[in-house]
Amino acid sequence: MNPDFEVYRLAEEHEELRAAVRALSEKEIAPHAAEVDEAARFPTEAREALTAAGFHAVHIPERFGGGGADAVAGCIVIEEVARVCASSSLIPGVNKLGTMPVLLAGSEELCKLVMPSIADGEAMISYALSERESGSDAVAMKTRARLDGDRWVLNGGKAWITNAGVSRWYTVFAVTDPEKGANGVSAFVVHADDPGFEVGPKERKLGIKGSPTCEIYFTDCSIPAERIIGEPGTGFKTAMRTFDHTRPTIGAQAVGIAQGALDASLAYVKERRQFGRAVSDFQGVQFMLADMAMKVEAARQMVYVAAAKVERGEKDMTFFASAAKCYASDVAMEVTTDAVQLFGGAGYTRDFPVERMMRDAKITQIYEGTNQIQRVVMARQLLKR
Ligand code: CAA
Repeated sequence: MNPDFEVYRLAEEHEELRAAVRALSEKEIAPHAAEVDEAARFPTEAREALTAAGFHAVHIPERFGGGGADAVAGCIVIEEVARVCASSSLIPGVNKLGTMPVLLAGSEELCKLVMPSIADGEAMISYALSERESGSDAVAMKTRARLDGDRWVLNGGKAWITNAGVSRWYTVFAVTDPEKGANGVSAFVVHADDPGFEVGPKERKLGIKGSPTCEIYFTDCSIPAERIIGEPGTGFKTAMRTFDHTRPTIGAQAVGIAQGALDASLAYVKERRQFGRAVSDFQGVQFMLADMAMKVEAARQMVYVAAAKVERGEKDMTFFASAAKCYASDVAMEVTTDAVQLFGGAGYTRDFPVERMMRDAKITQIYEGTNQIQRVVMARQLLKR
């Protein structure tokens, strides 16, 4: 055997990062997770702690004031925060989602306008693609943008916008040429103070209650012409390219939630006694734990492989990004449901964290493309090989 064999092992700095984020999450974020969920309030403590430690947007390149972390490191941060509080993990998660279109396709000037305020934690950014009537079918969006002199003027509305209201910046996709379908969509950066921009009321949700989800509206919302991301007509492709980078982060969030539920279950079954012995002595319980851990580990490896492929820009990255998100989120739903089962009646109450984790896990099968859409993406990738 060769203990120095480096294949299929995270780099030492990744493991050190995990230890640092885990320590911070357990100390500063976990104590507030139940109350954040109960009150459906934004986790300000988490934002402050993540920002103070520089974990709120690790992926932003150093030249824009960020940490310049790679995609695997970004996943580890989100995973470890999600292990204790899924709502809080959306702070680094959505900062990545909102910034990626600008980093991938925006001009240097636009990056310089937007990135520093996010890198230093002063501002957050949201991603605005979906509309009430345009979810899975993202090309069917109705929001319009037209050039008026040296300004773009936006009209319409976006739905299901994660962290809306808290964010200062919004990456917005709008139709600029209705005749051209996917190639008639453009991407823009809108600021919360832009005239004609408004945030609607918060949705009342099943889970991730600490992360506000709202509609946003544009009424003759006028922004400088330079706030377009890339060339007109490239917005839809930018939206899809973004998902290649961010679907693995949803997988990481799902792995974190599942690991949190597994850890809580392992502690509980050793304490809980029935029929004169610890519940963990029963083989039926042991088999459940083994299955849960096996699936969490498989999902984790898939997420890291997807992130590494995206970091290197490999040609099968779209398949892996969808597969990692889809598999990990299905695992998170199964594992958190099993965790509630292992806790019995107690698991069904708010006195223990596993019911929250089960509710939080559900969204990972839905957002950034439902798992049905992930299967569409994977199948298309397979069939075009
Ligand atoms: N990279 C680069 N280009 C891509 C691409 C990718 N990964 N995927 C597609 N494209 C290109 C295609 O090649 C095509 O280009 P051409 O016109 O030059 O051929 C163009 O984009 C259009 O692609 P499709 O023909 O595949 O478009 P479609 O209408 O069939 O839609 C879809 C494809 C996969 C279903 C897409 O609409 C989709 O992903 N839907 C789900 C939307 C989604 O994920 N929404 C989530 C909202 S965000 C969110 O949830 C965040 C949050 O809250 C945290």
